[in-house]
Amino acid sequence: MLHSALINVMVKAARRAGRSLSRDLGEVENLQVSLKGPANFVSAADKRAEEMLYSDLSKARPGYGFIGEEGGTREGADKTHTWIVDPLDGTTNFLHGIPQFAISIGLQREGTMIAGVIYNPATDDLFIAERGKGAFLNDTRLRVAARKQLHDCVIACGLPHIGRGDLPLSRDEMTALQPRVAGLRRFGAASLDLAYVAAGRLDGYWERNLKPWDIAAGIIMIREAGGIVSDIQTSGDPLITGDVVCGNETIHAELTKILRPLKT
Ligand code: IPD
Ligand code: CA
Ligand code: CA
Repeated sequence: MLHSALINVMVKAARRAGRSLSRDLGEVENLQVSLKGPANFVSAADKRAEEMLYSDLSKARPGYGFIGEEGGTREGADKTHTWIVDPLDGTTNFLHGIPQFAISIGLQREGTMIAGVIYNPATDDLFIAERGKGAFLNDTRLRVAARKQLHDCVIACGLPHIGRGDLPLSRDEMTALQPRVAGLRRFGAASLDLAYVAAGRLDGYWERNLKPWDIAAGIIMIREAGGIVSDIQTSGDPLITGDVVCGNETIHAELTKILRPLKT
């Protein structure tokens, strides 16, 4: 499958950082048994992957801005383009040797997401999207699932943990959704949750309090697969609010209708 030069740059960078994470995953599995545990090692793996991505992307597109989870914002001479990058999304999974994590690279032009690559090196799932050109998983064109009844749907969510997020609100959301769906899932890597909705593996997904690097690439993935993705309360840009809900048009509307009134 032929992709644009831009997508090729992103895929090459994701695959190189992916090889580094895969090597490090092997080491993490060894470190699990040590008393000190692998936490410091994982944060080094994370930073190493981000530096590789920064180096490859800025070499290929000099001047673009770069927002990375680890290194913060690096301004570029070109104020219209910004990479939004999570070098390791799903850190807790990675730390525990669970193969559900990804590198997420989004490209924004003047406030609009124009390209996204999400790559899980453990499964070799490579999700690609480019504005106006569709979304793909390993060269197969993606389309969101067509189910219209919530009770037939498998829906993913985020779960806030100690010290982060609104736990009572999350419990209210579970209480409201659990009896209405075929299955609720919590996978632990927001970028992959969004990519799975784009691929029709999941029918919908919502989560609050995310960061731009968790969702930038996933937003364009959903849109290019024909889905709807928005903020939960306002239907505005989730990249700005950090709260996200998505699915096909019907399921997005159903989820929004249930979730919105729960936040007072
Ligand atoms: C996290 C994952 C997780 C989500 C968290 C994110 P990280 O990103 O996407 O699924 O629930 O809120 O922070 O920390 O693993 O890059
Ligand atoms: Ca993340
Ligand atoms: Ca991360």
